[in-house]
Amino acid sequence: LFDYLEKYDYENLFICQEKETGLKAVIAIHDTTLGPAVGGCRMWIYDHEDDAIEDALRLARGMTYKYAAAGINLGGGKTVIIGNPYKDKTEALFRALGRFINRLGGRYITGADVGTTMQDMEYIRTETPHIVTVPESYGGAGDIAPYTALGTFQGIKASANEIYGSDSLEGKTVLVQGLGKVGGNLIKLLTDAKAKILIADTDERLVAKYRDEYKLQVIQPELVYETECDIFAPCALGATVNDQTIDKLKCTIIAGAANNTLKEERHGEILKQKGILFAPDYIVNAGGTIFDTDRLGVSGVHNKERAVQNVLKVYDTTKTVFKIAKEKNITPMDAADLYAKKRIDELKKLRNI
Ligand code: NAI
Repeated sequence: LFDYLEKYDYENLFICQEKETGLKAVIAIHDTTLGPAVGGCRMWIYDHEDDAIEDALRLARGMTYKYAAAGINLGGGKTVIIGNPYKDKTEALFRALGRFINRLGGRYITGADVGTTMQDMEYIRTETPHIVTVPESYGGAGDIAPYTALGTFQGIKASANEIYGSDSLEGKTVLVQGLGKVGGNLIKLLTDAKAKILIADTDERLVAKYRDEYKLQVIQPELVYETECDIFAPCALGATVNDQTIDKLKCTIIAGAANNTLKEERHGEILKQKGILFAPDYIVNAGGTIFDTDRLGVSGVHNKERAVQNVLKVYDTTKTVFKIAKEKNITPMDAADLYAKKRIDELKKLRNI
């Protein structure tokens, strides 16, 4: 474990246990060079404790890069609660976690993630102010998915500009996989941009809703990868670009909100060789977190106008990453990591002077 922590330069790993409430959680803090570590709280069933630790560590590091690349002055952290989000949730459990987070004195700030809701955040909020996802009535940003979608839309336009020489999506075929909180909002933006939209989801109710409301063509979930389109926008699960799917792909651009779209790093290299442009997921899907963390800046209050302006910057960041990739002849994913690390390394150097 310590070899891993050393390899990726982690700062802390906390194991939290409280017998009375049944809390078993892992809090990982990756890097606080740019500011306090921020990252959501995931609740999931893990077969092994090691898997939970690995998940927390990997996700915390992802947050460091996400904030650094987006120009946000925050570091990366993450909490993972080991438990069934459908059965094991109690107010006491989240309050226990809140007390642990409070003891960290603001070095780590939590929020909602897979398996946790705004209600859970309200329980944590009763024990600690170190929490970002809170309702608008508490001075928070509220529902952030529309802003994740807005940022993703900027990333898609920047990708179109890179390949087709224009931001216009008019007449371009965009396949949206996953019509949930982000995908659904993205459909609205793509419709306004006059794109030709194809939709896929395993949830038939959602498919029917968007098919009927927007008159869209439906693709069966298992046929998504072999369907011809200009832009594939994965907004469902991660690891959709893998050994089984990569040779089927018939798109020129992949740009979507799903985290960890590339199953392995080498898949990014294969896409590059195939001439498919991959817009790095953590660059493109940063809109929600940019919006959410606005009040953690110098001003201390959430300003919607400023936050939206910052979300729109996803366009420029995506273009910058493509530029670095081209100049250095590396994959956009490697370019994104390089861009993020450079910001952290420069500040680290300054601090050591
Ligand atoms: P969600 O849970 O609301 O929607 C996901 C949708 O994908 C669901 O409708 C589900 O039925 C569908 N789906 C699952 N398996 C599928 C399959 N095999 N084929 C087609 N559809 C499938 O999730 P949300 O919030 O919309 O997030 C989507 C993705 O974006 C996730 O990977 C998430 O980690 C990522 N993301 C979300 C952010 C947010 O603000 N909600 C922020 C950053 C990333």
